[in-house]
Amino acid sequence: MLARTALRTSLRAPARAFSSSSARQTKVAVLGAGGGIGQPLSLLLKLDPHVTELSLYDIRGAPGVAADVSHVDTDSKVKGFAADQLDAALEGVEVVVIPAGVPRKPGMTRDDLFNTNASIVRDLAAAVARVAPNAHLAIISNPVNSTVPIVAQTLAKAGVFDPRRLFGITMLDVVRSARFLSEITNADPKETTVTVVGGHSGATIVPLLSQSPFGKNITGEAYNQLIHRIQFGGDEVVKAKDGAGSATLSMAYAGARFTNALLRGLAGEKGVVIPTYVRSPLFEDQGVEYFSSNVELGPNGVEQILPLGPLSAAEEKLLAACLPDLKKNIEKGKAFVA
Ligand code: NAI
Repeated sequence: MLARTALRTSLRAPARAFSSSSARQTKVAVLGAGGGIGQPLSLLLKLDPHVTELSLYDIRGAPGVAADVSHVDTDSKVKGFAADQLDAALEGVEVVVIPAGVPRKPGMTRDDLFNTNASIVRDLAAAVARVAPNAHLAIISNPVNSTVPIVAQTLAKAGVFDPRRLFGITMLDVVRSARFLSEITNADPKETTVTVVGGHSGATIVPLLSQSPFGKNITGEAYNQLIHRIQFGGDEVVKAKDGAGSATLSMAYAGARFTNALLRGLAGEKGVVIPTYVRSPLFEDQGVEYFSSNVELGPNGVEQILPLGPLSAAEEKLLAACLPDLKKNIEKGKAFVA
């Protein structure tokens, strides 16, 4: 396992100058805004002072969601777009968040969603490539491990792929880790942040508990249980919703947090670091081209992909289990577009 040393990657690029972040116009689109995630995510983005305009698109229901959210008394403008108005929804957009697609039902893995969601994500990415080729794209639609490579290949086919501007949102795993760790340590979740690396499904989710002052002392059965709960936390929600879908509210929260970090980076704020699934050199030597790790965001999107840091023996094992699965998921996504 090489590639753990500092990677000041070639992704670095000169910063774009802004007079001030408050003067910045940032138009954000949500594709899939009528869904279980899309609706609360749209509301949370309406509350984000970095968003000046919100463009809500879905094949059903987005104009209604937009009319509703538009009454919230924050400064941004909101517009809804119907099924045949995708191009109009993407005009002038700087950030596109995609929660479009079907969610899991009990007994399904995220990979079971591939057949339906792969084409949805590909077609939306093709529209972004055509109308807003410089936009930053944040993908929520599952299986994230595969949908991000699908979007990358689609953008590359159109000649507009820039790895600094494509992100898979793995933030929910980070949110869950902090919460679950806080529950067993009785600490405030603000103190129990955990870096989570790898991908976004089952064994590809690798929480680095040894790097947390609260997590490093958890061992034995308690450790195994916590890792399992973080890796399969989504199943708790799928089971409790009993056929009505998967995580929507906690995901909207995680998606809004990620989008806020991206917007702060774009506005020139320094030191914005967040885990996200990107085209990454970290395990490229093992054929794994996409990987989630802490990433520093800046005016051009990805500024720097941070190294994983020291891993415990248990985490080395989790990582060894993650990489082959992740590689398969990535290859499946790439093959779909090829
Ligand atoms: P949902 O079924 O409630 O909403 C999906 C929305 O996408 C619907 O409103 C539907 O009309 C819309 N849609 C379908 N095809 C579309 C298209 N071509 N263009 C625009 N909109 C389209 O599903 P939910 O619960 O909101 O989940 C959405 C996705 O997010 C699922 O794939 C789910 O697995 C994923 N997810 C990802 C998480 C993550 O951590 N990244 C966590 C939880 C869910």
